[in-house]
Amino acid sequence: MQTRLTEMLGVTHPIVNAPMTPQAGGALARAVSEAGAFGIVGLNEDESAEQIAEQVALVKAGGFSKPFGIGLVIWVLERRPDLLDLAIAAKPTLVSISFGDPAPYVERLHRAGILIASQIQSRASAMRAAQAGVDIIVAQGTEAGGHTGAVGTLPLLQIVLDAVDVPVVAAGGIASGRGLAAVLAAGAVGAWIGTPFLAAAESRTPEQARERIVASDETQTVLTSLFDRAQGKAWPQEFRGRALRNRFTDQWNGREEEMLRAPGALDEFRAAKAERDYTVANVYAGQSVGMVSARTTARAVVERIAADAAGHLQRAASLVR
Ligand SMILES: Cc1cc2nc3c(=O)[nH]c(=O)nc-3n(C[C@H](O)[C@H](O)[C@H](O)COP(=O)(O)O)c2cc1C
Repeated sequence: MQTRLTEMLGVTHPIVNAPMTPQAGGALARAVSEAGAFGIVGLNEDESAEQIAEQVALVKAGGFSKPFGIGLVIWVLERRPDLLDLAIAAKPTLVSISFGDPAPYVERLHRAGILIASQIQSRASAMRAAQAGVDIIVAQGTEAGGHTGAVGTLPLLQIVLDAVDVPVVAAGGIASGRGLAAVLAAGAVGAWIGTPFLAAAESRTPEQARERIVASDETQTVLTSLFDRAQGKAWPQEFRGRALRNRFTDQWNGREEEMLRAPGALDEFRAAKAERDYTVANVYAGQSVGMVSARTTARAVVERIAADAAGHLQRAASLVR
């Protein structure tokens, strides 16, 4: 399949692995790029410059030269401007810069010859990103794993495709050829996929979290700011995180202030996080977790989705007389 996205990024499949921190490290990005899609390394605010350089080195080891990207979060950049320098030094084809106004970063990235993608969650934020001069807009629906907005992928995609002239990639809930075919048929140039790659061997998902991902269905996620509050993360209020429901969300979601004051609640969370006890600690994942039922590899995810989408698009084309 050839789209504007495959042309812009120099890849075979119109599929991008979402910059999931810390799960989408160098090994996942490389495996995705090796499979002919576009791999992105998410830069993690909790890691040092050396640790980040190690992840980038994994993509480039042995002279590997296929295109890859780097993922940044805007409110994190405001605290750690060094991450922008690290991203540029890695010489990626594209930098993803999301959750805020990308305008202050566009000129510098473009001067370095780097394409810019920005995830948006509303018509207003899409128009702001287009005006800022980003090259690709990622319409991220509320079905998505990790931090996201409140509008579903399908309504958001339709609204954004009509509102901007910039190529639009769809994110949130796409985990099969059906999903990729649907967004391409609607006019998107590709899919930005996160949750299915959490079960790939190359991701940095801890084994205990992987078990829960494989066992969960589409009804078992919740959009919550609980884990940000528990970890003191400064996410802007409009972005909550979609995570697997667990005992901690059942008890405290929507009662974050009370949780912070309750004796022992934070200690319980911190201990669970240290012990990888995900009945209490967070596993960010989207609603497409209902389509992730086995451990897999990045290549298997890419090849299955791309091959199935081509079949669905051919069938869809035959509907038109
Ligand atoms: C575990 C996890 C961590 C994420 N971390 C980030 C991040 O650091 N930066 C970012 O721009 N998006 C992040 N996202 C959101 C993804 O970029 C993307 O929008 C989402 O995974 C797409 O939806 P899907 O999970 O339904 O495929 C994360 C998603 C997940 C599941």
